[in-house]
Amino acid sequence: MAKTKYDYLVKPLKYRKLPGAGKAEYITMWQGADLEGLNVSFIWGYHRNEGKWGVGGEFGHVHPYGEVFMFTGLDYDNPNTMSAEVRLELGEEAEEHVIAAPSVIAIPAGVPHLPMVTKKADKPFGFLAISCDAKDKTTELKSRKKAFVLANKTGEMITRLELRDIKRTKGGNADFMGHWTGKKLNGFDLNFTWAFHTGTGLWHEHDPHVHPNDEALVFVGCDPDNPDYLGAEIEFRFGEEQEVHVFDKPTVVIAPKGLVHCPLITRKVEKPYSFTAICLAHEHTTTWFGGEKPFTSQ
Ligand SMILES: [Fe+2]
Ligand SMILES: [Fe+2]
Repeated sequence: MAKTKYDYLVKPLKYRKLPGAGKAEYITMWQGADLEGLNVSFIWGYHRNEGKWGVGGEFGHVHPYGEVFMFTGLDYDNPNTMSAEVRLELGEEAEEHVIAAPSVIAIPAGVPHLPMVTKKADKPFGFLAISCDAKDKTTELKSRKKAFVLANKTGEMITRLELRDIKRTKGGNADFMGHWTGKKLNGFDLNFTWAFHTGTGLWHEHDPHVHPNDEALVFVGCDPDNPDYLGAEIEFRFGEEQEVHVFDKPTVVIAPKGLVHCPLITRKVEKPYSFTAICLAHEHTTTWFGGEKPFTSQ
């Protein structure tokens, strides 16, 4: 197909297999340079094997930007469950925390974190890590103190991810959705959603729209055995000219600040799929152009 004006903003996800025993695990890794210069990096992956993760070395690591971890189950019928237990260490004194439900962990810049160990995985689960920087500036720690058993200086970094039933009656928008915002935190110019979808049709009534910030829209499948399978066919339009792009594989769509985008239309669905909108601002601000006159919502 001939190149179009906005082709460069639609990129298929490429997964690689993680080394290790058991059935395959897969991750896809993106930095700012891969995302047309957005000031963000992210990792999304499917995990199922028990044991230590291949990140964070022996004593953990640190970096000069905030990072958010999200743990989720992959089961559309039980969106608020995760049948696995992951232990991770947070803070100067390596406090141990166990994640056993869909959760978000917001790690401020400069706070040591990891290593991480999957203690139990009755079912595969998903893991999203978003770093508030275009580049990896990680420093591995050479040593770290261990917390006393009862210390808890870092527990407030962890929040339960609640996926609300949107009670969708039509259109392609989410059935179950959670939202996290860095509004009350320093160093997180970030808010993001996590959702499960099965609907077809228009996502939003008032498209097209635009934001004063960049965003990365990531469409992923829910089958940990087939990371390259999305389960849906999506139509996405860019620009005032409404240039049409269609994809049916896991994909990241980049919407640079100021670029009018959408409508977003789900054309077909074979299996439930997931979606995260990674927005590089504290708050989600949208100006909608559909209808009689533009209006802005937060
Ligand atoms: Fe990190
Ligand atoms: Fe948008």
